[in-house]
Amino acid sequence: MTDREIHKGLAGVVVDTTSVSSVNPETNSLLYRGYPVQELATHCSFEEVAFLLWHGELPAADELVAFEALERSLRVLDARTRRAIDDVPVSAHPMDVVRSAVSQLGGLDDTLTRPNGVLDPELNDGRALYLLAQLPTIVAYDQRRRHGLPAVEPRDDLDYSRNFLWMTFGEIPDDVVVDAFRVSLVLYAEHSFNASTFTARVIASTLSDVYSAVTGAVGALKGPLHGGANEAVMHAFDEIKTADRAEAWLDEALAAKRKIMGFGHRVYKNGDSRVPTMKAALETLVEHYDRADMLDLYNALEKAMGDRKNIKPNLDYPSGPAYNLMGFDTETFTPLFAAARVVGWTAHVFEQYAANSLIRPLSRYIGPAERHLAVSPRS
Ligand code: COA
Repeated sequence: MTDREIHKGLAGVVVDTTSVSSVNPETNSLLYRGYPVQELATHCSFEEVAFLLWHGELPAADELVAFEALERSLRVLDARTRRAIDDVPVSAHPMDVVRSAVSQLGGLDDTLTRPNGVLDPELNDGRALYLLAQLPTIVAYDQRRRHGLPAVEPRDDLDYSRNFLWMTFGEIPDDVVVDAFRVSLVLYAEHSFNASTFTARVIASTLSDVYSAVTGAVGALKGPLHGGANEAVMHAFDEIKTADRAEAWLDEALAAKRKIMGFGHRVYKNGDSRVPTMKAALETLVEHYDRADMLDLYNALEKAMGDRKNIKPNLDYPSGPAYNLMGFDTETFTPLFAAARVVGWTAHVFEQYAANSLIRPLSRYIGPAERHLAVSPRS
């Protein structure tokens, strides 16, 4: 096993086929089931995009009505899930809550123990929709409990985005805010074999269940090199404070060999295809909340990073400040990402089940050569 090339971080390695989405750095595009994500973000609800990613086609009108009705019927938290959340101290990160809650949902699903209960496609469709419907309630409930506020129950007369904001803030913001939120969810929903999706596929490849795969994916998303970057962007903005300090802050951070969160990407080396759409959504929020200072800081840091390193922003860069303007706590940003990405994770889990091969790579051993215990004969 010494002569094979090592692909550290699996960079550049194609490990399987997928028909869920394609990331095309050469044309700077991202397609969900063939549709450019920008078109979907402009014209489709998050529910339509979820249906597309799961079923391969956009829903017909009657399919959408049935799909939305089902999602709305699955939003209320089971008392046991609420207790599981309450058992996590508020000093823990909200992603720990999401991870624990998803795991709890798996434990509560008694259909898993039926014969073929883990792999049954119909049961799995229901589970994916259940996870989609439950995550906003989990995330919103957790943000409120951290502020000592009572839960706001879900409403089945509201679409997914409005209901999410309603449960978090106890009111429905203006359409411009709802729309920016919807755009962020569509953009976050799927991104091929990123670290969390690959984690989900690895777990599914052992023929473990979808809740286990999503629990693992949440853990992978938490890290700052992946989903955790959107909240890290906000921490950087909090440190920098004003646009005029961006260059000096960046020079200091780069001198200290810090990674600048929200910049760079493993696949896109010339800009993330989702950024212009999310930046436009951020700009509408900046105008709505009269926060030109936020955009000035955004532009100043982006320009300084371009000048110093020629590294461009990724989606987490505009989404962080956008979520801040909407009123979400900084620590809630990555759970919002998880609530949207659960669509992509589950689509990939089911694709993995449909043409499975256990994911089990090799390693090159570089530890001590074979050696033996110095065993003294027993007296
Ligand atoms: N800040 C500072 N330098 C960065 C950087 C960043 N955000 N992203 C990349 N670089 C530099 C690296 O230091 C490295 O420089 P070197 O060759 O002088 O050592 C070079 O660019 C290549 O980076 P590398 O980390 O090897 O690329 P990668 O493909 O492994 O990393 C990321 C991709 C996303 C992990 C990386 O860009 C990063 O850490 N970004 C910040 C976290 C983030 O925003 N994550 C969300 C991704 S959607």
